[in-house]
Amino acid sequence: MTEATLAGRTAIVTGASRGIGLAAAAALHGAGANVVLTSRTEEAAVAAASSVGDRALGIGAHATDGAAARLCVEQTLERFGSIDILVNNAGTNPAFGPVLSQDHGRFAKTMDVNLWAPILWSKLAVEAWMGDHGGSIVNTASIGGLSVGPDLGGYHVSKAALIHLTKQLAIELGPQIRVNAVAPGVVRTRLAEALWKEHEPAVADRTPLGRIGEPDDVGSAICFLASDASSWITGETLVIDGGQMINAGAAADAAMATAGSH
Ligand SMILES: NC(=O)c1ccc[n+]([C@@H]2O[C@H](COP(=O)([O-])OP(=O)(O)OC[C@H]3O[C@@H](n4cnc5c(N)ncnc54)[C@H](OP(=O)(O)O)[C@@H]3O)[C@@H](O)[C@H]2O)c1
Repeated sequence: MTEATLAGRTAIVTGASRGIGLAAAAALHGAGANVVLTSRTEEAAVAAASSVGDRALGIGAHATDGAAARLCVEQTLERFGSIDILVNNAGTNPAFGPVLSQDHGRFAKTMDVNLWAPILWSKLAVEAWMGDHGGSIVNTASIGGLSVGPDLGGYHVSKAALIHLTKQLAIELGPQIRVNAVAPGVVRTRLAEALWKEHEPAVADRTPLGRIGEPDDVGSAICFLASDASSWITGETLVIDGGQMINAGAAADAAMATAGSH
């Protein structure tokens, strides 16, 4: 992406104080966009924004807080004058284990942050700017939304629904607004630590591209989907996983070997 690609455009990235959101904000900024980074605390959002550059603004806004989201949209328009790109990236996984062992509180939190927040922020961005001027929305889903597994079932259900929501919004908001998603595999972030920290070599070993993901791997793909380079793509989910999905047999073999060793 060249410096001029997104010049004059403005992006809001939710959940951008670290990890994939911060990498996406940096990539969008690098391509010339003004960027607004959100996180649950103003302090973390502001620190992240100052690490990105001069056309960056940090705003504290819990992803499911409607009043905070509305204020963030207003402040973005005041500061930069448009909202051309929305990256619904904030996500959570408060619950491990079988779906039937989850309680309503954790299930509701997962669905609220991973599914309701993208609806809330999309609605606000569309009403405030994109509905009249067009735009591009990118949702951060997961390969978990395209597969099933033993320990993250509730999270996977929320990401599968987000992939479906991406298609639904693509038909509701086209042709002015494109809506796409990324589906990362295991990426080196805090949220995913349980998936890689203790066994990175094993995960890398069963990844065809030989390593786990870095936030920038996903940030650059988000930037592509936000930009005109993808102008005839909508409703799609782009898998960014070093080949982890196509090598699912290796993951199953590893699980069987682990089970056999107990
Ligand atoms: N890492 C992976 O392997 C992986 C794979 C597939 C999909 N994903 C998805 O990628 C997205 C980003 O996660 P990550 O891996 O980059 O995790 P991360 O490094 O832990 O970053 C999560 C970011 O979201 C913010 N955040 C968390 N809850 C929030 C909320 N309720 N409202 C606003 N901001 C919130 C956090 O900031 P504060 O703590 O300051 O609020 C932080 O900036 C998530 O949607 C996740 O499901 C990750």
